[in-house]
Amino acid sequence: MSSADNPRLLPLITTNPHGGRSSITCLYRCGNACAHEAPNTSDNQYFGDVVADVVNRRKMLKAGAVIAVAGAGMAAVGAGTAAAEPSTDRHGGGGASTGLDFQPVAPNDLDAVVTPPGYEQGVVIRWGDPVVPGAPAFDFENQTAAAQAKQFGFNNDYCGLVPIPGCHDRWLMVSNHEYTTESAMFHGYNAANPTQAQAEIAWAAHGLSVVVVEKNRRGGLEVKLDRHYNRRITLTTPFDVKGPAAGSKYLKTTADPTGTRIFGTQNNCSGGLTPWGTILSGEENFNQYLANADLVTDPVAKARNSRYGIVGTASQRKWERFDPRFDLAKEPNEANRFGWIIEIDPLDPTSTPVKHTALGRFKHEGANVIVARDGRVVAYMGDDERFDYMYKFVSDGKYKPGNSRFAREHNKKLLDSGTLYVAKFTGDSPAAEIDGTGKLPSDGEFDGSGEWLPLAHNNTSFVPGFTAEEVYVFTRLAADTLGATKMDRPEDVEPSLKSGKIYAALTNNTDRGKPGKEGATEVAPRLSNKHGHVLEVTENRGDNTGTKFAWKLLIVCGDPNSPDTYFAGYDKSQVSPISCPDNVAFDSKGNLWISTDGNALSHNDGLFAVPVDGRERGHVKQFLTVPHGAETCGPVVTDDFVLVSVQHPGELEGASADNPLSHWPDGGTSQPRPSVVAVWKKR
Ligand code: FEO
Ligand code: CA
Ligand code: CA
Repeated sequence: MSSADNPRLLPLITTNPHGGRSSITCLYRCGNACAHEAPNTSDNQYFGDVVADVVNRRKMLKAGAVIAVAGAGMAAVGAGTAAAEPSTDRHGGGGASTGLDFQPVAPNDLDAVVTPPGYEQGVVIRWGDPVVPGAPAFDFENQTAAAQAKQFGFNNDYCGLVPIPGCHDRWLMVSNHEYTTESAMFHGYNAANPTQAQAEIAWAAHGLSVVVVEKNRRGGLEVKLDRHYNRRITLTTPFDVKGPAAGSKYLKTTADPTGTRIFGTQNNCSGGLTPWGTILSGEENFNQYLANADLVTDPVAKARNSRYGIVGTASQRKWERFDPRFDLAKEPNEANRFGWIIEIDPLDPTSTPVKHTALGRFKHEGANVIVARDGRVVAYMGDDERFDYMYKFVSDGKYKPGNSRFAREHNKKLLDSGTLYVAKFTGDSPAAEIDGTGKLPSDGEFDGSGEWLPLAHNNTSFVPGFTAEEVYVFTRLAADTLGATKMDRPEDVEPSLKSGKIYAALTNNTDRGKPGKEGATEVAPRLSNKHGHVLEVTENRGDNTGTKFAWKLLIVCGDPNSPDTYFAGYDKSQVSPISCPDNVAFDSKGNLWISTDGNALSHNDGLFAVPVDGRERGHVKQFLTVPHGAETCGPVVTDDFVLVSVQHPGELEGASADNPLSHWPDGGTSQPRPSVVAVWKKR
C-alpha cells in the first residue's frame, strides 16, 4: 500500500472532544486523564513574567557551539538510512545529504499502514503471537492468562532493538505493553462486572516482551522463538527496588514489608536503549489501576495521591476485586510502588528487572541516556501530564565501555546514585509578545534560556520541607516547590547522540489558558494547544551534566497553512502537516524522527522525519501512516529498516470485539491486533 501524493493542507477545526483520540483510548490508556482536572494545581511562577537575561543566553549559545559527541555503544547505524536515497541533496542541505528523499505520504484515513512508493512492509509480531517457545497459537475466542503470559502482550508502545554481541542481522527486540483495552479483547465485555479470568489475562497482557528478531531474505524482520533470550515480563513479575528510596517506609506493604520487592510493572509507555544494552521503560498512567483513593484517611497521603491523579473509588478495570493490592483502602502504599523508570537487561534473561528510585516518581513517559564528556551518564525524562515537568538525572559514576561482565554490571548500577533535576525555562522575548495565538515574537523565535534545578542527590534533599526520600517518592510535589516550568505534556525527551542536543515532544495541552490555568508562555506559546510542539535544548558548553541551557521550539505543530504553526523557518508550503508529537528517535545522519499520538487534524497518526541542521532544518515529511484508530509509537530507525509500533488499531468510537472497526493487520473479518511493523526499501 502506498501513496505518492504531496501533502495536502487540512481544515483547522476538529470536533472530537478527545482531540484526535477516541474516548475508548482515553478511558483505557490513561483513565480519562483529560476529562479530569490536571493534577498540577501548584502556583509556580509564570515565567513569561521573568525578565529575560538575553546577555547570558547569547554567551551560552556561543559556548554551546562546541558540542561533544557522546553515547558510545548505542545501537549502530551506518551511513545511510532505510529512508535514504544516497547522495541526493536538492536543497544543498548545508553540505551533507539528509538522506530523506522519500516521497511524503499524504494524510489519509485508511485501515492500513501506508508507506512511500518504493518501500515494503511486514508485520514482525502481533498481539497474541508466541514469544516463548511452547506458547500456544493465538485463539481470540478462547484466550487464557496462561497463554497470554507466553504470548506478545497488548497495545505495544515503545520498541527497542538491543544488539546481540557478535551477531549481525540479529537483535533482541523489546516491546512495552502499555495498557489493555478489555472491550476490544473480549466479546461481550461487561465493564461493571469483569471476570477474574479477564483480569488475569489483562495482567499477563501488560509488561514487556523480549524476542530475538532476525533479518529475512525479503529485507524485513522475523521473530525467532529463542529458548535462551525470549521472555515475557508481566504485572506479576518480581522487580528489585534500587536507589535512595529502596526500602522506604512509603514503599512497604503487607506483601513486601521490606519495600524492596515489587510485583510487576504497569502502563509502560515509552523507553530508551542504554549505552550498556539494557532497556529503560516508563511507568506512566499507573494511577488508573488503583481503587479507593477517596477512602484514604491520612490527609497528607490523600494530597500526595491527588497530585498523581489518584482519586476516586472503584477503578476502571475493577482489579481490586481480584487482588487487594490494587485497593488503596487496604494497601495505601501500593500507589507509591508504581510511577518509576524500570530497567531490564534483555541480554541476561535470568536477571531481575529493577525499579530505579533515583530517577524520581511521576508519570514517566520514558528515559533516554547519553554519556557526557566526562563519562558520567545523563538520563532525560518527561512527565506526561498537562502542566507537568521535564527532568534529568546525572549519575555519580562513569560509564565503562565494552561488553565485559564487569563493565555491564558496573553500568547497570549507574542509575542508582546521582542527582535528580527538574527544568525551569525562561523566554527571551517580552511577555507581551507571547499572545497565545502562536504568533512569533519580534525576535523571530520562541526561545530562551533555562536551568536544571537540583531536587536531590542520594540522601541529600535540595527541596525545603522535603526529605530526600520524599523527593524521590513524591517528586511532583518537590518539583512544584522549586517552581519548575509547567509544560504541555512532555513525552519523549531524547538526546541526539550526534550533537548532544535534546529534543522533547510536547504532545498538546488544550487546558492551557483555561480559567484558573496558566496561560501562554514562550515555551508553551499557544492557548488551548491541541497540536503540540517539539522543543530543542542545547546544554551550556555542550555539557550534558551542566545546569544551564538554551532552548528553542523547533516545530510548532499543526496545519502548515495555519499562521500558528512554525517549522524552524522552513518553507511551510513544502512540509507535511503534523499534530501531537509523542515519540522521537534519530537516524544515523542525525535526522529527527517523530511519531504522533492523536492527530487533531482528523487523519491517521504517522511517523515523520525532519533534519535538524543545515538548510533542510524544519523540512518535515511524513514517512508512514498507521491504520485508523491507531497511534504510531516506538520508532526505531536503522540504515536498513524502520520499525514502528502500531498501537490500538481500530480504537474508534463505538468499536468493540463485537463491532471491530479495523481488521488490520490480518484483513477479512478479523479482530484488530496491535503489532510491530517493519518497513524497508524495495530491492
Ligand atoms: Fe503513553 Fe505519554 O503516552
Ligand atoms: Ca524569543
Ligand atoms: Ca507516548
